Amino acid sequence: MFPIVAHEELAPKVHRMSVKAPIVAEKSKPGQFVILIVDEKGERVPFTISGWDASKGTVDFVYIEVGKTTCRLGSLKPGDQLAHFVGPLGKPAEIDHYGHVLAVASGYGASAILPVLKALKEKENRITTILQAPDRERAFGCAELEEVSDRLVLAIGTPGEDMTVSATRLLRKLLANHPQNPIHRVIVMGSLCLMRVISEMTRPYAIKTMVHLTPLMVDGTGMCGACRLSVKGNNRFACVHGPEFDGHEVDGWDVLMARRCTYADESVLQQSFQCRGCSQW
Ligand SMILES: Cc1cc2nc3c(=O)[nH]c(=O)nc-3n(C[C@H](O)[C@H](O)[C@H](O)COP(=O)(O)OP(=O)(O)OC[C@H]3O[C@@H](n4cnc5c(N)ncnc54)[C@H](O)[C@@H]3O)c2cc1C
Ligand code: FES
Repeated sequence: MFPIVAHEELAPKVHRMSVKAPIVAEKSKPGQFVILIVDEKGERVPFTISGWDASKGTVDFVYIEVGKTTCRLGSLKPGDQLAHFVGPLGKPAEIDHYGHVLAVASGYGASAILPVLKALKEKENRITTILQAPDRERAFGCAELEEVSDRLVLAIGTPGEDMTVSATRLLRKLLANHPQNPIHRVIVMGSLCLMRVISEMTRPYAIKTMVHLTPLMVDGTGMCGACRLSVKGNNRFACVHGPEFDGHEVDGWDVLMARRCTYADESVLQQSFQCRGCSQW
Protein backbone atom coordinates (compact mmCIF):
# COMPACT_ATOMS: atom_id res chain seq x y z
CA MET A 1 0.00 0.00 0.00
CA PHE A 2 1.10 3.57 -0.68
CA PRO A 3 0.17 6.15 2.01
CA ILE A 4 -0.86 9.67 1.04
CA VAL A 5 1.38 12.06 2.97
CA ALA A 6 -0.02 15.38 1.77
CA HIS A 7 -3.02 16.52 -0.25
CA GLU A 8 -3.84 20.14 -1.02
CA GLU A 9 -6.17 22.06 -3.32
CA LEU A 10 -4.29 24.40 -5.69
CA ALA A 11 -7.31 25.75 -7.57
CA PRO A 12 -10.96 24.67 -7.93
CA LYS A 13 -10.88 20.91 -8.74
CA VAL A 14 -7.08 20.91 -8.98
CA HIS A 15 -5.11 19.10 -6.28
CA ARG A 16 -1.54 18.17 -5.47
CA MET A 17 -1.04 14.77 -3.89
CA SER A 18 2.15 13.54 -2.30
CA VAL A 19 2.50 9.76 -1.93
CA LYS A 20 5.06 7.70 -0.04
CA ALA A 21 6.67 5.51 -2.71
CA PRO A 22 10.43 5.31 -2.00
CA ILE A 23 11.41 3.16 -5.01
CA VAL A 24 9.57 5.46 -7.43
CA ALA A 25 11.08 8.53 -5.75
CA GLU A 26 14.58 7.12 -6.04
CA LYS A 27 14.34 6.52 -9.79
CA SER A 28 12.14 9.41 -11.04
CA LYS A 29 13.36 11.66 -13.84
CA PRO A 30 11.76 14.79 -15.38
CA GLY A 31 8.87 14.04 -17.77
CA GLN A 32 8.07 10.57 -16.43
CA PHE A 33 4.74 9.40 -15.07
CA VAL A 34 3.14 6.94 -12.65
CA ILE A 35 0.07 4.73 -12.94
CA LEU A 36 -1.97 4.33 -9.78
CA ILE A 37 -4.96 2.29 -8.71
CA VAL A 38 -6.95 3.66 -5.77
CA ASP A 39 -8.28 0.31 -4.48
CA GLU A 40 -8.58 -3.26 -5.68
CA LYS A 41 -11.71 -2.43 -7.73
CA GLY A 42 -10.22 0.75 -9.15
CA GLU A 43 -9.06 1.62 -12.70
CA ARG A 44 -5.47 2.29 -13.70
CA VAL A 45 -4.91 6.04 -14.15
CA PRO A 46 -1.69 7.75 -15.27
CA PHE A 47 -0.33 11.01 -13.80
CA THR A 48 2.82 12.96 -14.63
CA ILE A 49 5.30 13.20 -11.77
CA SER A 50 5.46 16.87 -10.75
CA GLY A 51 8.09 16.43 -8.03
CA TRP A 52 9.81 13.93 -5.80
CA ASP A 53 12.03 13.77 -2.74
CA ALA A 54 14.29 10.72 -2.71
CA SER A 55 15.37 11.36 0.91
CA LYS A 56 11.75 11.33 2.16
CA GLY A 57 10.67 8.72 -0.39
CA THR A 58 7.77 10.84 -1.65
CA VAL A 59 6.39 11.45 -5.15
CA ASP A 60 4.05 14.34 -6.06
CA PHE A 61 1.56 14.76 -8.87
CA VAL A 62 -1.10 17.34 -9.64
CA TYR A 63 -4.48 16.22 -10.94
CA ILE A 64 -7.66 17.78 -12.20
CA GLU A 65 -10.96 16.21 -11.12
CA VAL A 66 -12.57 15.08 -14.36
CA GLY A 67 -14.20 11.70 -13.80
CA LYS A 68 -14.68 8.74 -11.48
CA THR A 69 -11.12 8.10 -10.32
CA THR A 70 -9.94 11.68 -10.09
CA CYS A 71 -13.07 12.62 -8.07
CA ARG A 72 -12.42 9.60 -5.84
CA LEU A 73 -8.84 10.83 -5.33
CA GLY A 74 -10.28 14.22 -4.38
CA SER A 75 -12.10 12.62 -1.43
CA LEU A 76 -8.95 11.01 0.04
CA LYS A 77 -7.02 12.45 2.99
CA PRO A 78 -3.44 12.23 4.24
CA GLY A 79 -3.09 8.85 5.95
CA ASP A 80 -5.35 7.09 3.41
CA GLN A 81 -3.59 4.55 1.19
CA LEU A 82 -3.48 3.85 -2.55
CA ALA A 83 -3.53 0.18 -3.53
CA HIS A 84 -0.99 0.46 -6.37
CA PHE A 85 1.47 3.11 -7.47
CA VAL A 86 3.71 2.02 -10.35
CA GLY A 87 6.56 3.99 -11.85
CA PRO A 88 8.50 5.81 -12.97
CA LEU A 89 7.15 5.04 -16.46
CA GLY A 90 7.97 6.47 -19.87
CA LYS A 91 11.17 7.98 -21.20
CA PRO A 92 12.53 11.02 -19.36
CA ALA A 93 12.33 14.34 -21.21
CA GLU A 94 15.39 15.33 -23.28
CA ILE A 95 17.52 17.70 -21.22
CA ASP A 96 20.55 19.58 -22.57
CA HIS A 97 21.90 23.08 -23.01
CA TYR A 98 19.87 24.58 -25.88
CA GLY A 99 20.07 28.32 -25.17
CA HIS A 100 16.68 30.05 -25.01
CA VAL A 101 13.87 27.61 -24.21
CA LEU A 102 10.23 28.64 -24.52
CA ALA A 103 7.90 26.58 -22.32
CA VAL A 104 4.13 26.64 -22.73
CA ALA A 105 1.95 25.02 -20.05
CA SER A 106 -1.75 24.71 -19.38
CA GLY A 107 -3.93 22.68 -17.00
CA TYR A 108 -1.98 20.19 -14.89
CA GLY A 109 0.97 20.94 -17.20
CA ALA A 110 1.61 24.03 -15.03
CA SER A 111 2.97 21.68 -12.36
CA ALA A 112 3.91 18.64 -14.42
CA ILE A 113 6.40 20.72 -16.44
CA LEU A 114 8.31 21.87 -13.32
CA PRO A 115 10.85 18.99 -13.11
CA VAL A 116 11.65 19.46 -16.83
CA LEU A 117 12.20 23.21 -16.40
CA LYS A 118 14.30 22.74 -13.27
CA ALA A 119 16.56 20.30 -15.12
CA LEU A 120 16.82 22.68 -18.10
CA LYS A 121 17.69 25.54 -15.75
CA GLU A 122 20.47 23.43 -14.24
CA LYS A 123 21.85 23.13 -17.78
CA GLU A 124 21.95 26.96 -17.91
CA ASN A 125 19.18 27.48 -20.41
CA ARG A 126 17.33 30.79 -20.44
CA ILE A 127 13.66 29.95 -19.93
CA THR A 128 10.63 31.94 -20.97
CA THR A 129 7.38 30.36 -19.77
CA ILE A 130 3.87 31.05 -20.98
CA LEU A 131 1.20 29.82 -18.54
CA GLN A 132 -2.21 29.51 -20.14
CA ALA A 133 -5.29 29.42 -17.92
CA PRO A 134 -8.98 29.96 -18.61
CA ASP A 135 -9.22 32.56 -15.81
CA ARG A 136 -7.13 33.97 -12.89
CA GLU A 137 -8.69 31.55 -10.42
CA ARG A 138 -7.28 28.60 -12.33
CA ALA A 139 -3.84 30.10 -12.97
CA PHE A 140 -2.11 28.02 -10.30
CA GLY A 141 1.59 27.26 -9.83
CA CYS A 142 2.79 30.76 -10.78
CA ALA A 143 5.30 31.09 -7.90
CA GLU A 144 6.97 27.76 -8.69
CA LEU A 145 7.08 28.50 -12.41
CA GLU A 146 8.58 31.93 -11.69
CA GLU A 147 11.35 30.27 -9.67
CA VAL A 148 12.50 28.13 -12.61
CA SER A 149 11.85 30.66 -15.38
CA ASP A 150 13.76 33.79 -16.36
CA ARG A 151 10.44 35.24 -17.48
CA LEU A 152 6.89 34.08 -16.78
CA VAL A 153 4.06 35.42 -18.92
CA LEU A 154 0.42 34.73 -18.07
CA ALA A 155 -1.99 34.01 -20.90
CA ILE A 156 -5.40 34.34 -19.30
CA GLY A 157 -8.32 33.44 -21.53
CA THR A 158 -11.19 35.69 -22.46
CA PRO A 159 -14.65 34.19 -21.83
CA GLY A 160 -16.09 32.73 -25.02
CA GLU A 161 -12.76 32.77 -26.83
CA ASP A 162 -10.94 29.61 -27.94
CA MET A 163 -8.49 29.05 -25.07
CA THR A 164 -5.46 28.47 -27.28
CA VAL A 165 -5.79 32.06 -28.55
CA SER A 166 -4.25 33.73 -25.48
CA ALA A 167 -1.11 31.59 -25.53
CA THR A 168 -0.68 31.62 -29.31
CA ARG A 169 -1.05 35.42 -29.40
CA LEU A 170 1.95 35.70 -27.08
CA LEU A 171 3.89 33.09 -29.02
CA ARG A 172 3.26 34.97 -32.27
CA LYS A 173 4.86 38.08 -30.72
CA LEU A 174 7.91 36.09 -29.58
CA LEU A 175 8.24 34.44 -32.99
CA ALA A 176 8.15 37.88 -34.63
CA ASN A 177 11.36 38.67 -32.70
CA HIS A 178 13.01 35.43 -33.77
CA PRO A 179 15.85 35.28 -34.84
CA GLN A 180 16.91 38.66 -33.29
CA ASN A 181 15.93 37.15 -29.92
CA PRO A 182 16.17 33.52 -30.96
CA ILE A 183 14.16 30.67 -29.49
CA HIS A 184 16.16 27.47 -29.65
CA ARG A 185 13.60 25.02 -28.34
CA VAL A 186 9.93 24.94 -27.40
CA ILE A 187 8.32 22.60 -24.88
CA VAL A 188 4.56 22.31 -24.53
CA MET A 189 2.64 20.51 -21.79
CA GLY A 190 -1.01 21.26 -22.23
CA SER A 191 -4.15 20.31 -24.08
CA LEU A 192 -3.79 18.37 -27.33
CA CYS A 193 -5.20 21.38 -29.20
CA LEU A 194 -2.55 23.67 -27.74
CA MET A 195 0.30 21.25 -28.48
CA ARG A 196 -0.86 20.78 -32.06
CA VAL A 197 -1.39 24.49 -32.76
CA ILE A 198 2.00 25.44 -31.32
CA SER A 199 3.77 22.69 -33.28
CA GLU A 200 2.26 24.11 -36.48
CA MET A 201 3.27 27.68 -35.53
CA THR A 202 6.92 26.78 -34.92
CA ARG A 203 7.27 24.47 -37.95
CA PRO A 204 8.03 27.26 -40.49
CA TYR A 205 10.77 28.54 -38.15
CA ALA A 206 12.25 25.03 -37.74
CA ILE A 207 12.32 25.47 -33.95
CA LYS A 208 12.40 22.03 -32.35
CA THR A 209 9.10 21.70 -30.46
CA MET A 210 8.65 18.95 -27.89
CA VAL A 211 5.11 17.96 -26.89
CA HIS A 212 4.05 15.72 -24.00
CA LEU A 213 1.35 13.40 -25.32
CA THR A 214 -1.12 11.67 -23.02
CA PRO A 215 -3.35 9.37 -25.07
CA LEU A 216 -5.48 6.83 -23.22
CA MET A 217 -3.23 4.33 -21.51
CA VAL A 218 -3.95 0.96 -19.98
CA ASP A 219 -0.84 -1.00 -18.98
CA GLY A 220 1.74 1.77 -19.52
CA THR A 221 4.43 -0.70 -20.53
CA GLY A 222 3.99 -1.06 -24.31
CA MET A 223 1.97 -4.29 -24.17
CA CYS A 224 -1.65 -3.29 -24.87
CA GLY A 225 -1.24 -0.81 -27.73
CA ALA A 226 -3.89 1.56 -26.34
CA CYS A 227 -1.62 4.60 -26.45
CA ARG A 228 -0.31 4.15 -30.00
CA LEU A 229 0.22 7.12 -32.27
CA SER A 230 1.84 7.78 -35.62
CA VAL A 231 5.22 9.49 -35.67
CA LYS A 232 6.87 9.98 -39.09
CA GLY A 233 4.61 7.19 -40.41
CA ASN A 234 5.67 4.70 -37.73
CA ASN A 235 3.56 3.31 -34.90
CA ARG A 236 4.80 4.56 -31.55
CA PHE A 237 3.54 3.95 -28.03
CA ALA A 238 3.36 7.07 -25.88
CA CYS A 239 4.01 5.04 -22.72
CA VAL A 240 7.38 3.65 -23.78
CA HIS A 241 8.59 5.81 -26.72
CA GLY A 242 7.25 8.98 -25.05
CA PRO A 243 5.39 10.73 -23.57
CA GLU A 244 7.71 13.43 -25.01
CA PHE A 245 7.76 13.62 -28.83
CA ASP A 246 8.92 16.06 -31.47
CA GLY A 247 5.66 17.81 -32.36
CA HIS A 248 6.77 18.31 -35.98
CA GLU A 249 7.11 14.54 -36.38
CA VAL A 250 3.67 13.63 -35.00
CA ASP A 251 1.45 12.99 -38.01
CA GLY A 252 -1.61 11.50 -36.36
CA TRP A 253 -3.06 14.49 -34.47
CA ASP A 254 -6.64 13.92 -35.73
CA VAL A 255 -6.60 10.27 -34.65
CA LEU A 256 -5.05 11.18 -31.30
CA MET A 257 -7.74 13.76 -30.63
CA ALA A 258 -10.59 11.48 -31.72
CA ARG A 259 -9.34 8.59 -29.57
CA ARG A 260 -8.79 10.78 -26.54
CA CYS A 261 -12.44 11.84 -26.73
CA THR A 262 -13.80 8.29 -27.10
CA TYR A 263 -14.56 7.75 -23.43
CA ALA A 264 -15.40 11.31 -22.51
CA ASP A 265 -18.87 11.08 -20.97
CA GLU A 266 -21.30 13.93 -20.31
CA SER A 267 -19.56 14.89 -17.06
CA VAL A 268 -16.33 15.53 -18.98
CA LEU A 269 -18.05 17.18 -21.93
CA GLN A 270 -19.78 19.68 -19.65
CA GLN A 271 -16.54 20.95 -18.18
CA SER A 272 -14.68 23.88 -19.67
CA PHE A 273 -11.80 21.97 -21.20
CA GLN A 274 -9.97 23.12 -24.28
CA CYS A 275 -10.37 19.89 -26.17
CA ARG A 276 -13.56 18.36 -24.86
CA GLY A 277 -12.13 14.92 -24.20
CA CYS A 278 -8.62 15.68 -23.17
CA SER A 279 -9.33 16.89 -19.65
CA GLN A 280 -6.97 19.86 -20.06
CA TRP A 281 -7.65 23.60 -20.29
C1 LIG B 1 1.10 9.86 -19.47
C2 LIG B 1 -0.10 10.59 -18.89
C3 LIG B 1 0.09 11.54 -17.92
C4 LIG B 1 -0.99 12.21 -17.37
N1 LIG B 1 -0.76 13.13 -16.41
C5 LIG B 1 -1.79 13.73 -15.78
C6 LIG B 1 -1.54 14.64 -14.70
O1 LIG B 1 -0.41 14.87 -14.29
N2 LIG B 1 -2.64 15.23 -14.15
C7 LIG B 1 -3.92 14.98 -14.57
O2 LIG B 1 -4.87 15.57 -14.03
N3 LIG B 1 -4.17 14.13 -15.58
C8 LIG B 1 -3.13 13.49 -16.19
N4 LIG B 1 -3.39 12.59 -17.21
C9 LIG B 1 -4.78 12.34 -17.58
C10 LIG B 1 -5.42 11.44 -16.51
O3 LIG B 1 -4.84 10.15 -16.58
C11 LIG B 1 -6.94 11.34 -16.72
O4 LIG B 1 -7.49 12.61 -16.48
C12 LIG B 1 -7.56 10.34 -15.76
O5 LIG B 1 -7.21 9.04 -16.16
C13 LIG B 1 -9.05 10.50 -15.75
O6 LIG B 1 -9.64 9.43 -15.02
P1 LIG B 1 -11.11 9.56 -14.41
O7 LIG B 1 -11.56 8.20 -14.01
O8 LIG B 1 -11.13 10.61 -13.36
O9 LIG B 1 -11.98 10.12 -15.59
P2 LIG B 1 -12.69 9.34 -16.76
O10 LIG B 1 -14.14 9.68 -16.69
O11 LIG B 1 -12.29 7.91 -16.83
O12 LIG B 1 -12.06 10.06 -18.00
C14 LIG B 1 -12.07 11.45 -18.19
C15 LIG B 1 -11.16 11.78 -19.37
O13 LIG B 1 -9.81 11.50 -18.97
C16 LIG B 1 -9.10 10.86 -20.01
N5 LIG B 1 -8.67 9.53 -19.54
C17 LIG B 1 -9.42 8.61 -18.90
N6 LIG B 1 -8.71 7.51 -18.63
C18 LIG B 1 -7.47 7.72 -19.10
C19 LIG B 1 -6.29 6.94 -19.13
N7 LIG B 1 -6.23 5.72 -18.60
N8 LIG B 1 -5.22 7.47 -19.75
C20 LIG B 1 -5.26 8.70 -20.24
N9 LIG B 1 -6.33 9.49 -20.24
C21 LIG B 1 -7.43 9.01 -19.68
C22 LIG B 1 -10.04 10.74 -21.17
O14 LIG B 1 -9.77 11.78 -22.07
C23 LIG B 1 -11.41 10.90 -20.59
O15 LIG B 1 -12.23 11.52 -21.51
C24 LIG B 1 -2.33 11.92 -17.80
C25 LIG B 1 -2.53 10.95 -18.79
C26 LIG B 1 -1.43 10.28 -19.33
C27 LIG B 1 -1.67 9.25 -20.39
S1 FES C 1 -0.54 1.97 -22.45
FE1 FES C 1 -0.45 -0.03 -23.32
S2 FES C 1 0.98 0.23 -24.92
FE2 FES C 1 0.99 2.14 -23.94
